[in-house]
Parts: sequence; structure tokens; C-alpha cells
Amino acid sequence: MTLIPELTILQPADKEGIDQPRTSEDELAVGKKRLYIESYGCQMNFADSEIVAAVMRNAGFATTSTAEDADLIFLNTCAIRDNAEQKVRNRLKHLTGLKRQKPELLVGMLGCMAERLKTKLLEEEKVVDIVAGPDAYRDIPKLVEEAESGQKAVNVFLSREETYADIAPIRLNSNGVTAFVSIMRGCDNMCSFCVVPFTRGRERSRDPHSIVRECQDLFDQGYREVTLLGQNVDSYKWTETAEESAPQPASAVTFANLLERVAQIHPDLRIRFSTSHPKDITDEVLFTMARYDNICKYIHLPAQSGNSRVLKLMNRTYDRPWYIGKIDRIREILGQDCGISTDMISGFCTETEEEHQESLSLMDYVRYDYAYMFAYSERPGTLAAKKYADDIAEDVKKRRLNEIIARQLEHSAQRNQRHIGQVQRVLIEGPSKRSDAELCGRNDQNKMVVFPRGQYQKGQYVNVLVTECTSATLRGEIV
Ligand code: SAH
Ligand code: SF4
Ligand code: F3S
Repeated sequence: MTLIPELTILQPADKEGIDQPRTSEDELAVGKKRLYIESYGCQMNFADSEIVAAVMRNAGFATTSTAEDADLIFLNTCAIRDNAEQKVRNRLKHLTGLKRQKPELLVGMLGCMAERLKTKLLEEEKVVDIVAGPDAYRDIPKLVEEAESGQKAVNVFLSREETYADIAPIRLNSNGVTAFVSIMRGCDNMCSFCVVPFTRGRERSRDPHSIVRECQDLFDQGYREVTLLGQNVDSYKWTETAEESAPQPASAVTFANLLERVAQIHPDLRIRFSTSHPKDITDEVLFTMARYDNICKYIHLPAQSGNSRVLKLMNRTYDRPWYIGKIDRIREILGQDCGISTDMISGFCTETEEEHQESLSLMDYVRYDYAYMFAYSERPGTLAAKKYADDIAEDVKKRRLNEIIARQLEHSAQRNQRHIGQVQRVLIEGPSKRSDAELCGRNDQNKMVVFPRGQYQKGQYVNVLVTECTSATLRGEIV
């Protein structure tokens, strides 16, 4: 779900990479205990860390951006691939050293790896004091108290209702311009390779009123872009009571309705969303996108594979022609310029060379703007782990992955080149990575655009004439 194109193409593994520091210094920290949170994995995890920070502030903890200063360290973990878990294990080694110097330090594991491994984590990693799954964050202050009294503390119960709708997240490490807003939790899809349904539980949608309120508050605070987050946003669904929907009669709120409500907050508030599932994205969503200029013309529509037999084994519930039909429909309704990205997995169980070629040919057909690309990593407990042998050799998976990456680099470069000579509306996010004399921000299609600073500042919209590009970035001048 992470949308960091310039990292993605060059280093696909960075999707679940750590993005430090994630915590901002709390101005009111004097005399308070200090919490340091490090987040791994998808944007939903990063958004969850902001909820955890809010819960902990109520319990008297201030956040700090240095692990060495903290009384309490949380790792909000990811379990999507084995290497995501290995990264966390390595980090725990470092924390073991820290704890030796400071024995009163408490270490908590949150998120998907915590949920997957449960109490086993306490046995395997002695440095860990607290284990809390994604639906247990309201309980964390109590778990911390238990840990402070010298016991190990665990809560990994998954909920059918929890959406943290009433908790106002504390924006961590924010640029003050763009923010993530969770609109649902969990996933009911059961793709055979995927651990998420086990780590995040059943799918549930968040009250639309609380979503609109959060987006409105963000706009009032100066934010100009919200990304609505869910594992499968197109299956968002909320049934309003008659009272809530008055003066209209009670009705179901779909993702398209929600998009429209958020888009109506203000024309200067941009809306993005992730992730769309090819089986669920509707014409209604595409038409809503077309109707509102402030809904960005960019869709992340993960294919995973270009071959129908593999897609069936993956339990994605669509085949190649269906997927192509969705792409055609997007371009019919939103035009050729709509940005489209994908996730691709190489070397899934029993994938043949010809089937891998079909992933490449699907990429040729679509010409994605970006892709997040991975070698298949078997996850214990998933349907694929139970039913199919992980029978593609690692070097073959890697070679296929490299072919997929190389193909995507070509396509990204081509898709970027077509912006040369165009004037793009860009929301300024801050100074560019390389130089303070430059600013950067994204265009509608989520591409990073870099340009000379001039008199402008973050949070403003500017029109930029694109003059050059790489496969990762566009460059230009404000006009
Ligand atoms: N809900 C989103 C994806 C969430 S996980 C969706 O349905 O598209 C993000 C991506 O990680 C997936 O799209 C998939 O490409 C990849 N992924 C998930 N499990 C994986 C595994 N076991 N091995 C390799 N990649 C995996
Ligand atoms: Fe995993 Fe599939 Fe759900 Fe995405 S839709 S989170 S890939 S089970
Ligand atoms: Fe996200 Fe990783 Fe969990 S991708 S949902 S943090 S397994």
C-alpha cells in the first residue's frame, strides 16, 4: 500500500522498510515518560502508530524521535514477507544492547508480526516485554502498567468491530500537508499467499461521519491531501441509521459515496486512496473520480500475476481477461493519463516460465506508472503454505523478479516521458531530498516533481512545466 514510487522501482524490498525517525519530539515532554515508536510495513501500520501515540499521550507518555532517550520502545511490525520479519529481529538485537545499558527500558512489539507470533515472540525474543496485536491498542496503557510491574504483557485478541473511529491520531513525523486516514480494517479476501487476514482479522468499515470529520479537521489544520486507507477500499460499506442519514432515509454508504463526501469538504483538499482490488472496483467509483477534480487520477490496482491459472491458485478471484477489462474501463472513463500502479509477485508456487512471461506481457499491455515487486515468500498458516509446495528455486524467483523490475523501469520511464512539455498541478510537500533550493511535491498521478523553490512554500498548489524526467522523478519550472 505504500506509495513511495522513487523507492519502489529501485528497491522493491523497501516497501516494508523502516522509515525513521517516525516519532516527532513532543513539545510538552518535560517530566513525562518518553515513548519511541518505529513503524514497519504498509501505510496502515504507520497510521496505526499515530493512533498508538494518541492512546499513549492520554496515558502520560510523550513521544521522542531518539530510541536512546526512550523509557518505552514500540516496534510496530509487519509480517507480509519473511524479510520484513528478519528486519525486526535484527532491530531487536540492537535493542537488547540498549536494554543492557538501561535495564528499566521496556520494549513492546505491536502490529502484524506480534499478532502472527503471539506469546511465541516472548519465548523467542527475551528483550520483548509487551506484545499487542492490531486490535489491542486501546489496551496498551494497561499492558505497559503490567510490564512496569515486572510481568510480561500480551493482548492479541482480534475484534470484529474495532476501528478506533473516535481516536484522533497524533501525526508523527508529518510534513503538515499530506496525511493518511484509515477507513477500514482487516481483510476478508483470503488471497492464498497473504498473511494479512490472519494478522488483521475480519474486514470492518469505519463510521463515515468520523472519517469526514477527521478529514475536515486535517484541512482546517492546513493539510491539503488525505489518503484513504484500507486493504480493499472498494468493499467499504457502512449502513447509516435513519438519524445519521437525516434528512435522507437510512441507506448504505459505499466507497464511491464516501469518496464523494470527502471530496466535497473543499476543492483544495486532494483525495487519494489505496488499495483497490480488481474484483471490487466499480464504475461508480470511476465516475465519482471523474466528477471531482480533487480526487487524484491515480489507482493502485494490484494484479499479482498476469496468468489466469496462477491467479486462480492465488485465490484472487479474477483472471487475466477480467483484469484487462478493468484497466480498459479505467482508461475509458478516466482517460489514458490516469496513473495506474500494481503489485507483482514472482515465483509463486508452480509458476512456469511461460506463466511468468504472461506477467511481463500484462505489464506490457498496461504500462504501469509504478509497481511494487516481490519474490514470493511463503507465510506459515496461509492457504498457499498449506496447499501448495513453495517449489520455485530462490534463484529463479530472483531472476524472474529482476526481469519484472527491469520491465517496470522501462515503462516508468516511458510513462514519465509523456509528461515532458505538460504543465502539471503539484501540491508542494517540502524541500527536495537533494537541495533546499528546490521544492518537491506530487502531481495528480502521484509522481514526484522537483522544481526551483522561488517564492513558494509547502501546502501551496503550483503549476509546473515538466522539462525532464528519470524513471523515478519529474523535473520542471513553475509557470
Ligand atoms: N491489500 C492489498 C495488498 C496488501 S499486501 C492488495 O490486495 O493488493 C501488499 C503486497 O504484498 C501484495 O499486494 C502482494 O503483492 C505482496 N505480498 C503479500 N504476501 C506476499 C508473500 N507471501 N510473498 C510475496 N509478496 C507478498
Ligand atoms: Fe492480502 Fe489479498 Fe487481503 Fe490484499 S486483498 S490484504 S493481498 S488477502
Ligand atoms: Fe501491512 Fe505488513 Fe500488516 S503490509 S497489514 S503491516 S503484514
